[in-house]
Amino acid sequence: MRKIKMILDCDPGHDDAIAIMMAGNNPKIDLLGITVVAGNQTLEKTGYNALNLCQYLNIDVPVCLGASEPLIKEIQVCPDIHGETGLDGFDFQELTKNFDNRPAVHFLAETVLKSEDKITIVTTGPMTNLAIALKLFPKMKDNIKEVVLMGGSYQNGNVTPAAEFNIYADPEAAYIVFNSGLEVKMFGLDVTRRVLVLPEVIERMEKIDNKASVLFSKLMKVYNINQNNVFGVAGGPLHDPLPVVYLIDPSVVDLTHVHCDIDISHSSSYGRTNCDIFNYLKLPKNVHVAIKVDTEKYWDIIEEGIKRYT
Ligand code: BDR
Ligand code: CA
Repeated sequence: MRKIKMILDCDPGHDDAIAIMMAGNNPKIDLLGITVVAGNQTLEKTGYNALNLCQYLNIDVPVCLGASEPLIKEIQVCPDIHGETGLDGFDFQELTKNFDNRPAVHFLAETVLKSEDKITIVTTGPMTNLAIALKLFPKMKDNIKEVVLMGGSYQNGNVTPAAEFNIYADPEAAYIVFNSGLEVKMFGLDVTRRVLVLPEVIERMEKIDNKASVLFSKLMKVYNINQNNVFGVAGGPLHDPLPVVYLIDPSVVDLTHVHCDIDISHSSSYGRTNCDIFNYLKLPKNVHVAIKVDTEKYWDIIEEGIKRYT
């Protein structure tokens, strides 16, 4: 079977870290590189977090720095959930891995345009890098298989009543991607709020007792404390691995094809992913939205992924 050629665009981030872990050594995925964006923390911090994660997990792929701020709005980071470093809870050893010297946008364009197989792009942060790349290099669209993203919500948000963080952090970028004509699959809070890293999940992964399980456990314990402080939950939603887990086993999620409009009106719904789940508007369908997740399968795949790190 041909591997899925994939680029991961992210802003690590505790849950991004687990997405990197899942994509980094799965036999079904050929991870071509990691591009980083400002989001959960400043670009400098998310960039170093990505490098540290790759070095620790022996994931030998280029890590490229991207946008340090959104297209239009002011940057807004998320220390309440991810801490001052963006990845509080784990002490990495001295860093020897370096950034690839290509800017993320150039890496994205070059890799997509040169590839024999179509490329899958997974985004788990604000979509600034991809939006800029699509505007600068529109021919990329011909060689992108699909964009699979964590972001949005057809119900309520997590940074405003209406908006989810990744979309709210750069609504105009999301607008560009959602209206690009590409195959877009959205994994929003509707499903990621169903995969909670409850203490028993952490205990289960700790039993694996390898370097990945140690990282998982330390990061998730801090993530849960922060999630509990902000949202009052005993286990935080493990958002970002879901699109990667979907690529590993599409049966984990049910999707429905809808019209989805990103609110860029600067109203109180700025950054909302308005998904016409009931097809009221009879408008062209541009996004596949996840509506159901098999939680048991999700944790099984996460467990298998952690076990693969010896
Ligand atoms: C998203 O926001 C970030 O804080 C997480 O990393 C995730 O990508 C969830 O809304
Ligand atoms: Ca993220």
